[in-house]
Amino acid sequence: MSLAASAGVEIAVIPVAGLGTRMLPASKAIPKEMLPIMDKPMIQMVAEEAVRAGIRHIIFVTHMAKTAIENHFDRNPELEDVLAEKGKQALLQSVKDVLPAGVTFSAVRQGAALGLGHAIACARALVDGRSFAVLLPDVLIDCSGEDEDLGRMIRRHLETGAGQIMVTPVPRERVQDYGTVALSREEEGDEDDGALITGIVEKAPAAEAPSNLAVVGRYVFSAQIFPALEALEPGVGGEMQLTDAIARQLQDEPLHAYLMQGQTFDCGSKLGWLEANLHFGLKHPECGKGLHALMARLCGENDAS
Ligand code: G1P
Repeated sequence: MSLAASAGVEIAVIPVAGLGTRMLPASKAIPKEMLPIMDKPMIQMVAEEAVRAGIRHIIFVTHMAKTAIENHFDRNPELEDVLAEKGKQALLQSVKDVLPAGVTFSAVRQGAALGLGHAIACARALVDGRSFAVLLPDVLIDCSGEDEDLGRMIRRHLETGAGQIMVTPVPRERVQDYGTVALSREEEGDEDDGALITGIVEKAPAAEAPSNLAVVGRYVFSAQIFPALEALEPGVGGEMQLTDAIARQLQDEPLHAYLMQGQTFDCGSKLGWLEANLHFGLKHPECGKGLHALMARLCGENDAS
């Protein structure tokens, strides 16, 4: 086990520099990551997932048009004063608790949109040789039960020293939207232990993909991934792909596929975002019952027409 792994995983890198064209026009003037799931921006849901997994410092890889994200995680004394004066304690707490005490963040700019691999490489100096998690902010994950996927991935990384890549099976016709992995034959289908990845390809057509096990948007890496990220050449879509750096890294260190247990929502698409709103909305302490009744009424009206 590497020294970095034995010290724990307390850093998460969240790339937020993308322009969010799939959510236009909503994302024209605000970052797509600030679109809400009920009353919380998506990026806050992702940060909370990281914090529940033990992350203590979040690095946003960001863009000049996305300062709203840093502002959201900062304090807002003027707003806090107004809420305190009006005695709105619950609201005051909700704006103060965007990050819990002891959790900090920093931001580094990705000056040019050169791809996900390039974005993660931008965080190298801040990661500073430690193991770290990567969370793609388009993907929301809901784990029922207390033992959440990212926390389990981090534990496996600490136990084995191997990088962890979250995967889930997808229908063949959707394979080309994802990175897909090949597993070592003995370990294929083993759901309990991390299966050794032998290959990984970005957005391959179903006929060429090594499997239908798609990369979901959660990773745990040792800092050894950085030289592979910095050596990247343009790949699919002319972008420097994280997947290509992982493929290269497989030659030097073991990386494991972690089969996700939770439910995933692709909030980079309009319908996926809406589905996440309905899913989390039904669980919302204040609005869940009302939303349930609303959905039943709307479905009833549609059935009748
Ligand atoms: C990225 C990754 C891809 C992964 C996907 C998961 O692609 O490059 O390997 O499967 O996220 O959401 P993107 O959706 O950003 O094009």
